[in-house]
Amino acid sequence: MGEKKFVLLLCFFAAAMSTIRGEDPYLFFTWNVSYGTIAPLGVPQQGILINGQFPGPNINSTTNNNVVVNIFNNLDEPFLLTWNGIQHRKNSWQDGTLGTMCPIPPKTNYTYHIQVKDQIGSYVYYPTTAMHRAAGAFGGLRVNSRLLIPVPYADPEDDYTVLIGDWYTKSHSTLRKFLDGGRALGRPDGVLINGKSAKGDGKDKPLFSMKPGKTYKYRICNVGLKNSLNFRIQGHTMKLVEMEGSHTVQNTYQSLDVHVGQCFTVLVTADQKPKDYLMVASTRFTKSVLTGKGLISYTNGKGPASPEIPEAPVGWAWSLNQFRTFRWNLTSSAARPNPQGSFHYGAINITRTIKLVNTAGKVDGKLRYAVNGISHIDPVTPLKLAEYYGVTEKVFKYDIISDNPPAKDADKMTMAPNVFNMTFRNFVEIIFENHEKSIQSWHLDGYSFFAVAIEPGRWTPERRKNYNLLDAVSRHTVQVFPKSWAAILLTFDNAGMWNIRSEVAERRYLGQQLYTSILSPARSLRDEYNIPDNALLCGVVKGMPKPPPYSI
Ligand SMILES: *[C@@H]1O[C@H](CO)[C@@H](O)[C@H](O)[C@H]1NC(C)=O
Ligand SMILES: *[C@@H]1O[C@H](CO)[C@@H](O)[C@H](O)[C@H]1NC(C)=O
Ligand SMILES: *[C@@H]1O[C@H](CO)[C@@H](O)[C@H](O)[C@H]1NC(C)=O
Ligand SMILES: *[C@@H]1O[C@H](CO)[C@@H](O)[C@H](O)[C@H]1NC(C)=O
Ligand SMILES: *[C@@H]1O[C@H](CO)[C@@H](O)[C@H](O)[C@H]1NC(C)=O
Ligand SMILES: *[C@@H]1O[C@H](CO)[C@@H](O)[C@H](O)[C@H]1NC(C)=O
Repeated sequence: MGEKKFVLLLCFFAAAMSTIRGEDPYLFFTWNVSYGTIAPLGVPQQGILINGQFPGPNINSTTNNNVVVNIFNNLDEPFLLTWNGIQHRKNSWQDGTLGTMCPIPPKTNYTYHIQVKDQIGSYVYYPTTAMHRAAGAFGGLRVNSRLLIPVPYADPEDDYTVLIGDWYTKSHSTLRKFLDGGRALGRPDGVLINGKSAKGDGKDKPLFSMKPGKTYKYRICNVGLKNSLNFRIQGHTMKLVEMEGSHTVQNTYQSLDVHVGQCFTVLVTADQKPKDYLMVASTRFTKSVLTGKGLISYTNGKGPASPEIPEAPVGWAWSLNQFRTFRWNLTSSAARPNPQGSFHYGAINITRTIKLVNTAGKVDGKLRYAVNGISHIDPVTPLKLAEYYGVTEKVFKYDIISDNPPAKDADKMTMAPNVFNMTFRNFVEIIFENHEKSIQSWHLDGYSFFAVAIEPGRWTPERRKNYNLLDAVSRHTVQVFPKSWAAILLTFDNAGMWNIRSEVAERRYLGQQLYTSILSPARSLRDEYNIPDNALLCGVVKGMPKPPPYSI
């Protein structure tokens, strides 16, 4: 056999082997995180850039891809990113929260290995450290459906990411000083769309362009710090097709309320007079309304956008009604070749009910936020590492909150790491009860859940009769209106340490978050991956001998 042929044959074997092992494709990124001056509202301020960009680059991936991101932290502070809504099956090691990972020290790098396993949809990543999110370093993350899985709509002409969010002109360190000093952030200074705010003076550059008659996909995510935003496009309706990883029943909307941390995917057809149009994101449930604008042009367009902005809905009852119109499309395929609704969540018996009540209060005279009376603090040693190395007693206690907090303790508040122990594979009901006057947005890492109800008042077991047990959307973030509750159902089948957090940044920073630990009793690789070789170590586990790895 000639040498050339032999080499070819070897190549063939290598290729065949990787097919046999079913190894999914890899996408590699190198990201340089640094400070840089930005002026999204016209006022120069310190931003956090990724490879010089604000917002950060979009990641375009396909179901099951391995996404490898080598992050060089060129800030002067420790840094971490979380991948909001990415489930990291068996792999909370990569979740990017301070309860699961040591932050990347300044002037060093860390490589995330994440797999977007069995997921589709529109997501974002953002920093979880030190209010960095207020300065940038967030971006879009798409997970496209694999070619062989049908998507319940025709291929759009193009695919656009729209990151909307409230914005402060103060630096993240100033905002952090406010919070550390025990005061709230106050009102933001504006609303941005993809890091910009159109002036509407005829000189704005379009963010997106559309060919007449064509249909476009827009992925709208709220990356802001606190405000729910109403999103709408002059003269155009939006057909909702996907929400946080699930194909929805395709209703048409004039506008959508997008709460912090949520993502919606809509189709928009360029079926109007060829000219420019404004997309608008305005704050909801606030005394004074802040509005951000962005321009869309038609490729054959002549003429500027009308200065008249479509009106936003009023009150939160409208928003609650809109929530009730969101339905899972039971017959469309999920990320795997089976229908989404083949998992009949309504037929499973609930094994545990946990009520999480958010409160605001003061500890030592300073503002703090809590869940069931505990205002979470991040120990120097990440909870997951303490658990893995068997030194939890030096770091935190499990189950310091009860599943049903007694009403008489409503005003109590203690600062401590807040971790509850969850039995692997239990089917659980979580009630988020909001007794406060402001809106909440609750997010759970590592899972998607069925958001079965949101109602005003207090939850009682009788309210279960109003649950949507058929086609509630499976998602990762749910809003809770003032003096209301929301109920979610899920199976805790993803072993790991997972963060439950208020997406409202100041609330999370001041303690309104907690973790749930789900350990597979078998310590088996079938249930959870080993700690990655490149895992950063800090706190009490630094320098400790590595525990024996999980076994098959
Ligand atoms: C990363 O950004 C910093 C600050 O702008 C710069 O000094 C450094 O050269 C960059 N590194 C790479 C690898 O691009
Ligand atoms: C994103 O990935 C999909 C699937 O590989 C590809 O068809 C599409 O062109 C990509 N889009 C961009 C903007 O790179
Ligand atoms: C840091 O980057 C280098 C490549 O420049 C890579 O070899 C190394 O694994 C990275 N470190 C970590 C902890 O990921
Ligand atoms: C649900 O998905 C199916 C299959 O892709 C599609 O044919 C149907 O139109 C969708 N239904 C609705 C109500 O959107
Ligand atoms: C659920 O609970 C009911 C009442 O306790 C019981 O009859 C039923 O068998 C249970 N179903 C399953 C699937 O365990
Ligand atoms: C957590 O729950 C599991 C399963 O119910 C149990 O085996 C384990 O002992 C509990 N761990 C703690 C620390 O309570």
